[in-house]
Amino acid sequence: MTQARQKHGKSVFIRTYGCQMNVYDSERMAGLLKPLGYGVVDAPDDADLVILNTCHIREKAAEKVYSELGRLKKIKTARASNGDEMVIAVAGCVAQAEGPEIIARAPMVDLVVGPQAYHQLPELLARAARECGDILATDFAVEEKFDRLAERQADGPAAFLTIQEGCDKFCTFCVVPYTRGAEVSRGVDAVTAEARSLAAQGVKEITLLGQNVNAWRGDAPAGDAGANSLWGLGELCRHLAKVDGLERIRFMTSHPRDMDDGLIAALGEEEKLMPYLHLPVQAGSDKILKAMNRGHTAATYIGQIAKIRAARPDIALSGDFIVGFPGETNEDFEATLALVEAVQYASAFSFKYSRRPGTPGAAMPGQVEESEKNQRLARLQACLEAQREGFNRAQIGAVLPVLFEKPGRHAGQLIGRSPYLQSVHVDAPQSMLGSIAPVRIEDVTPNALAGVLVRKAEAAA
Ligand code: 5AD
Ligand code: SF4
Repeated sequence: MTQARQKHGKSVFIRTYGCQMNVYDSERMAGLLKPLGYGVVDAPDDADLVILNTCHIREKAAEKVYSELGRLKKIKTARASNGDEMVIAVAGCVAQAEGPEIIARAPMVDLVVGPQAYHQLPELLARAARECGDILATDFAVEEKFDRLAERQADGPAAFLTIQEGCDKFCTFCVVPYTRGAEVSRGVDAVTAEARSLAAQGVKEITLLGQNVNAWRGDAPAGDAGANSLWGLGELCRHLAKVDGLERIRFMTSHPRDMDDGLIAALGEEEKLMPYLHLPVQAGSDKILKAMNRGHTAATYIGQIAKIRAARPDIALSGDFIVGFPGETNEDFEATLALVEAVQYASAFSFKYSRRPGTPGAAMPGQVEESEKNQRLARLQACLEAQREGFNRAQIGAVLPVLFEKPGRHAGQLIGRSPYLQSVHVDAPQSMLGSIAPVRIEDVTPNALAGVLVRKAEAAA
């Protein structure tokens, strides 16, 4: 054992792939390991424990795990020759979907733990130390997972908070319903307690997370005026807006099918709800939307956008798109471009369809050639990029409240977020970290806005 590690106790390196839910889970795993004496390190080389928190959504994401395991194997072997041990754990959605395959393909893995079994990590690590065989923990028991996680430690003024997991929608391209299980909501009291604890630690902004966050449902708290009623996300957001210290609330990712009037009204009325909505549509052709089992058409989606804009005119819209789903013709793809033109997005994520084993899409006829997918993706991304730039440029001259989250690359610079989730670079003193202040936007760079601090009186004028 090296001197440094003797001095500092045990160490864990966590590599996170994929979505914000994984970022949240990694943070919670680190919190769970802390009382066991594990400090977080930022490289695997000296770590006693390495956790890969994996993503299974597209083939590329899953394959990354196996190449990372190849690199870790070398480190583990070198360490073993010094009589030193390194435990390797694979967590997340690849663990859930391919547990036995991981153990077969990568024998140096000691522990495979699915997204609903993190709370068992301490016991599993103890077992891994006792037993030589591989350990596979991939059962589904979401409620228990949240109940057993330790008190949350905040890290900065903006935090993720998972309120819902799983998906019952079964889009035909998607692995999530298989890796994350059925839709489950956390209760109002548990969510409120976590939000209060974060706010008490200085958190100003929370982003409520869920695979289908707007499918969240919960019983109104006892004693509330609406007790005995079932709340949706709109009511939950209004409730959390009352938590002392919280200034901003966001939520993602929403599904068009669950975008109900209560949530749209809350977006219009609750000032702490930020004017940003991630509402994936995936495609613009009704034939493809049907084959994807999305449960909405292009017209119903565009109708919802109109309603949302009527409630909150300045809303920044974001979406996800897939090109080259089986059966997608040029004409279908043109319908996606037409939808993008009609909606006007502030930001978006777009992907080539990736055939995922076990999903209905993988077996559909009419799989699209890779070269065709590449061309369509390039065209779509050019449109989306132009819209994003236009949205950003439109802020030049505006004064926006910015929450300062971290130091910038240059001395004397801070990086914050606008209400529209844009990154904003500003010259400002370190003492302003964690505060919200008005900033006049002066310039746009490819990935961020640049601005200057404005005195509060000037901002109000
Ligand atoms: N291929 C490509 N993109 C996918 N997504 C989900 N499954 C696939 C797949 N098989 C995209 C969707 C989803 C986002 C998280 O990932 O756009 O909204
Ligand atoms: Fe996947 Fe569709 Fe569920 Fe989103 S709604 S997680 S894309 S199955």
